[in-house]
Amino acid sequence: MPQAVRTAIVGTGHRAQLFTEGLAKRDGYDVVALCDPNSVRMAFHNRMLLAAGRRTAHLWPPARYDEMLRVERVELVVVTSVDATHDRYIEAALRAGVRVICEKPITTDAVKAQSILDTVRETGGSLSVAYNYRFNPVHRRVRQLLADGAIGTVHSVHFEWMLDVSHGADYFRRWHRDKSNSGGLMVHKASHHFDLVNWWLGAEPHTVYARGQLAFYGPGPEHGYARDYVRAHGSSAADDDPFALQLADNATMRDLYLDAEGEDGYYRDRNVFAPGVSIEDDMAVLVSYDTGATMTYHLTAYSPAEGYRVMFNGSGGRLELNVEESTFTSITLRPLWSEPVDHTVDHEHEGHGGADPRVLAALLDGEQTEGAEVADARQAALALVTGLAANRSFETGLPVRTADILKL
Ligand SMILES: NC(=O)c1ccc[n+]([C@@H]2O[C@H](COP(=O)([O-])OP(=O)(O)OC[C@H]3O[C@@H](n4cnc5c(N)ncnc54)[C@H](O)[C@@H]3O)[C@@H](O)[C@H]2O)c1
Repeated sequence: MPQAVRTAIVGTGHRAQLFTEGLAKRDGYDVVALCDPNSVRMAFHNRMLLAAGRRTAHLWPPARYDEMLRVERVELVVVTSVDATHDRYIEAALRAGVRVICEKPITTDAVKAQSILDTVRETGGSLSVAYNYRFNPVHRRVRQLLADGAIGTVHSVHFEWMLDVSHGADYFRRWHRDKSNSGGLMVHKASHHFDLVNWWLGAEPHTVYARGQLAFYGPGPEHGYARDYVRAHGSSAADDDPFALQLADNATMRDLYLDAEGEDGYYRDRNVFAPGVSIEDDMAVLVSYDTGATMTYHLTAYSPAEGYRVMFNGSGGRLELNVEESTFTSITLRPLWSEPVDHTVDHEHEGHGGADPRVLAALLDGEQTEGAEVADARQAALALVTGLAANRSFETGLPVRTADILKL
């Protein structure tokens, strides 16, 4: 029997749980090392390994990452740390001949993205990026219909994504609120959506024009929701605030964040209307693609409900995807000159619409999911470049060519 793959997980927060649990279930993998600045969060993941009947992993601080790769004879690194820290871990692993699985986005700015791409090319190493939305059965159905020519040549896409005042607000409570950590929602969140469109259309983004604003969260707006506190825990002003996250009410939140604060001052429950927000919450983007198609895209992070709508206009008709999270999904094909046809498939509710277990099986078992494949480094950079160009367009007020951002 082949030896289990010696695996390290870097960044042992919330998302890493998917990988800790998934790796622990698979005999073909051995989690030998965890790397994070916070020992309380690493201990949480070690308890997960023990609960799954596996041995605990050695704990390493980020400053000793290169040494960890060598001493632990790491063969696979899973990178699930804060977005802006990914590049360092990816590149050192690739240079050490170690395979990398990284959470999206691969990084947060153009300089780091170019450096990652160049390192992949120089080393010939393996970098897979967990763009899980591709594995959602609803999204695969849309891709199949488009690939089958159901609406002919796709000329344009109209895409609206709504984050509600619970999930959307979450990006304004913690590290994402600082653009230097997350790249803003154009990078952190919309790269999922831009990846879907690249993949749905088989197209690459060419030019991007965008406008973004912080319209709702942050200290400015006079909408009357703001309360006077810095973080919710221990603040009476947060007691009846619908925007407040109460860490003490949830065992995992308590273990991963509240009990870990003493080491690094990472507050998971900041006031979304307090100063220090440098990301946008309302973003409008116009993209042109190398196929000649265009997309109008809008992301809002303060909606009453969570969901998305994607409309594809083609030479043979129109395809409409409507999703209201947890309640409603429809895929409607409207061919020219004939009645609409319903192509709705069941919307799974767990793990990002059923995407998480499937992306894990693809990443760890090499399992084939019909109609979806794992994003490689170039595809991940293509998913990122629209958001990077949009961020530049926010700053300059001008259209931005993706070729001026990244050499893909
Ligand atoms: N694909 C998806 O659907 C999905 C969903 C959620 C999160 N994610 C991604 O997963 C990653 C982690 O997000 P999260 O929600 O778990 O955040 P989190 O805050 O829960 O965890 C981040 C972890 O990174 C650690 N960290 C901070 N600085 C570090 C450094 N310099 N080196 C190593 N570790 C460091 C923190 O201590 C923390 O344990 C992000 O890249 C995020 O974009 C992806």
